[in-house]
Amino acid sequence: MNYNIALLKGDGIGPEIVESAVRVLEAVGKKYGHTFNFTSYLIGGCAIDATGAPLPEETVAGCLASDSVLLGAVGGPKWDTLPGNLRPEKALLGIRAAMELYTNLRPAKLYSVLKDACPLRADLVEKGFDLLIVRELTGGIYFGERGYRQGKYGEEAYDTEAYSVYEIERIAVAAFDAAMKRNKKVTSIDKANVLESSRLWRKVVHQVAERYPEVTLSDMLVDNAAMQLVRNPAQFDVVVTSNMFGDILSDEASQITGSIGMLPSASLGATGRGLYEPIHGSAPDIAGKNLANPIATVLSAAMMLRYSFGLQKEADAIEQAIDKVLCEGYRTADIAAGAEAVGTVEMTDLIIKALED
Ligand code: IPM
Ligand code: MG
Repeated sequence: MNYNIALLKGDGIGPEIVESAVRVLEAVGKKYGHTFNFTSYLIGGCAIDATGAPLPEETVAGCLASDSVLLGAVGGPKWDTLPGNLRPEKALLGIRAAMELYTNLRPAKLYSVLKDACPLRADLVEKGFDLLIVRELTGGIYFGERGYRQGKYGEEAYDTEAYSVYEIERIAVAAFDAAMKRNKKVTSIDKANVLESSRLWRKVVHQVAERYPEVTLSDMLVDNAAMQLVRNPAQFDVVVTSNMFGDILSDEASQITGSIGMLPSASLGATGRGLYEPIHGSAPDIAGKNLANPIATVLSAAMMLRYSFGLQKEADAIEQAIDKVLCEGYRTADIAAGAEAVGTVEMTDLIIKALED
């Protein structure tokens, strides 16, 4: 088959890690008889420098015309002082909204070969953990009404958390569908003891649960969830939550794996076209030094094969190649714990070699 992939390399280490994923995809294409065509578009700081806007119209059009999108990372100190609507991060929100990517899948698993990198006490993660955060991505306080007004103490700024039945229902369906392919357990996280929007969230999630009798649903308040994640992460399978709670909890979940450079993500909508990106940021301090870990981006490409193109065995092959390279003891600096490390290019070469074997 022939697939057209839009590349949004972005800033910092973005170009290097996207290049790694492209090379791995080309190796997959060669082995399994697919053609991947790549077209690059600007996003983030590099787009601001070149065009004055973090998300040029051409980028949006290119993504919408593609079969799927692979993103590196955006942002850096150079653009940190720009006003909110001109910041590189604004481009991320813009592309999510333009592509209507309401489901964000953020897996966080503890690799047994990297157990030592986990910052939690060994007895807490004895059994390992493998959870999937399903974060609502185009609604809630990120996109709600906002502004400035005069309040009780003078000028104030406000943002609004609002969720419709429709939005809650579709993200719940995504979570339950994911749970059916995993361990059939969903934890819905909200703040229903305080927020009206969370009370509606809880009600709708329970209505959707009735359609999935095989799945066990439990509710958890977000403050408790933040605590449970570091107390007993193995209790979670699929976690479904709002945009902002998902933003916060997914950073926490990634940190407890000890290897944020390993974690991919997928943002999906109602069509097969998705946006795939590593969970980590643009790491400007190590950009261009052949130090970045390309694995999160390569795993994001594997997720693209699985979720957008239905290429299961090709996705499995990438994941197995990475497992093999890790089991052989190769590490990039971020996961080497001070031991000898390989660079971005060498790690990519190793993954490609394992794939070809
Ligand atoms: C993320 C990031 C973004 C978010 C920022 C950069 C806008 O933190 O993808 O988690 O808050 O969604
Ligand atoms: Mg975040």
